[in-house]
Amino acid sequence: MTGAPEGRKPVRVAMLGCGTVGAQVLRILDEQGGDLAARIGAPIELAGVAVRRPHRHPDVPQHLLTTDAEALVRSDVDIVVEVVGGIEPVRGLLLTALRNGKSVVSANKALLAEHAADLFAAADSAGADLYFEAAVAGAIPLVRPLRESLAGDRINRVMGIVNGTTNFILSAMDSTGASYAETLDEASRLGYAEADPTADVDGYDAASKAAILASIAFHTRVTAADVYREGIAAVTPADVAAAKTLGRTIKLLAICERIDGSVAVRVHPAMIPRGHPLASVGGAYNAVFVEADAAGSLMFYGQGAGGAPTASAVLGDLVAVARNKLSGGRGPGESSYAALPVVPIAQVNTRYHVSLDVADRAGVLSAVAAVFAEHDVSIAAVRQSGRGTDASLVIVTHYAPDEALRSTVEKVAGLPSVREVASVMRVEGEES
Ligand SMILES: NC(=O)c1ccc[n+]([C@@H]2O[C@H](COP(=O)([O-])OP(=O)(O)OC[C@H]3O[C@@H](n4cnc5c(N)ncnc54)[C@H](OP(=O)(O)O)[C@@H]3O)[C@@H](O)[C@H]2O)c1
Repeated sequence: MTGAPEGRKPVRVAMLGCGTVGAQVLRILDEQGGDLAARIGAPIELAGVAVRRPHRHPDVPQHLLTTDAEALVRSDVDIVVEVVGGIEPVRGLLLTALRNGKSVVSANKALLAEHAADLFAAADSAGADLYFEAAVAGAIPLVRPLRESLAGDRINRVMGIVNGTTNFILSAMDSTGASYAETLDEASRLGYAEADPTADVDGYDAASKAAILASIAFHTRVTAADVYREGIAAVTPADVAAAKTLGRTIKLLAICERIDGSVAVRVHPAMIPRGHPLASVGGAYNAVFVEADAAGSLMFYGQGAGGAPTASAVLGDLVAVARNKLSGGRGPGESSYAALPVVPIAQVNTRYHVSLDVADRAGVLSAVAAVFAEHDVSIAAVRQSGRGTDASLVIVTHYAPDEALRSTVEKVAGLPSVREVASVMRVEGEES
């Protein structure tokens, strides 16, 4: 990589990984090295690229390729860019890099959601930087706005769509009425779902991102294990149809909220009004709302994945970290001073939409309403429709503790007049 300014000692970079994201990082470094050097104030020099299978990378200058990531990390480099993914061996490699004073740029949500504390501690003790914009929502600047631009404000809520695969599947189910399984097959055929889609469809990917966002937003350590998680595999065409009837659509939401001196972090499908700005976020796009005391509501929107969009975030971090190196400064470290307790979903106030297939006889509504009253769950709207075997009852509640809503539904399911609980879904994005 060449570029201005003349005479400045290059910033030496080790790349770990050269797959979907890494290949795009290399392409942009190659095509825009001169501009990047001018922005940094010194050229970037690629010291090596660690991969598993060098023969799969004919486009990378062969003298740069290595399978010995450990040696590359320990060599004379200033910055390590990690676009491998997973926990080990990456965790060990990055700890080695940071302990040796090398700054790290990572796109690895799984690692940051589990081991941010150790990584930040290593970075702190050696005076190195740890940047990870690409770990959450691909190209969308979100980590830096939360870590830096909003550091003077008090953030109360972060809510959004942070997984493109599930958003693609739910959008398609909404427009076609097809089942989850059929739509997942289609998503795989079109390349929107991985060969093993578990991390996406079961909500693990979104939960990692939610943990990272909540940690930064609330200055509190939150790991993926603290996040309540439900995926989309149980969303049925009946849920989608029920949402449509009520002018809503279903999205997998990541919700991080500050509640009375504690925080709650959850990922689950929810019905939102079709007029809500998140409802029109389609396909593989991501969007995140941030609510802060002074700033009010902010919305971040863009491509949440893909090689080039993610590479944009990686390179933005690389430029920032390289500038810090040259100036002798450092970016922000971990901020976990608030150490707020994380409360379980049972204690979080949510709203439910419940759709019941019921017997067509007098007294059904009052029997159902009595169960809601017994659990102190107040009903916002009821709709009764159909006759005979088509008789159904749709109930939307006001806010109540999730635990109370859950036990209400369990008890209602056991009523003799209720044939089946056809759909249960949380409702978000509207006042009750
Ligand atoms: N893809 C996206 O849209 C996206 C979006 C946001 C964040 N991310 C994150 O970016 C990271 C990379 O994702 P990706 O999609 O680019 O992955 P990928 O296409 O699977 O590429 C992974 C790369 O890492 C290399 N690698 C694997 N194990 C290694 C090891 N032990 N030592 C050295 N190299 C090793 C692989 O080498 P070989 O090529 O030789 O096998 C490959 O080049 C992940 O943390 C992911 O979560 C990805």
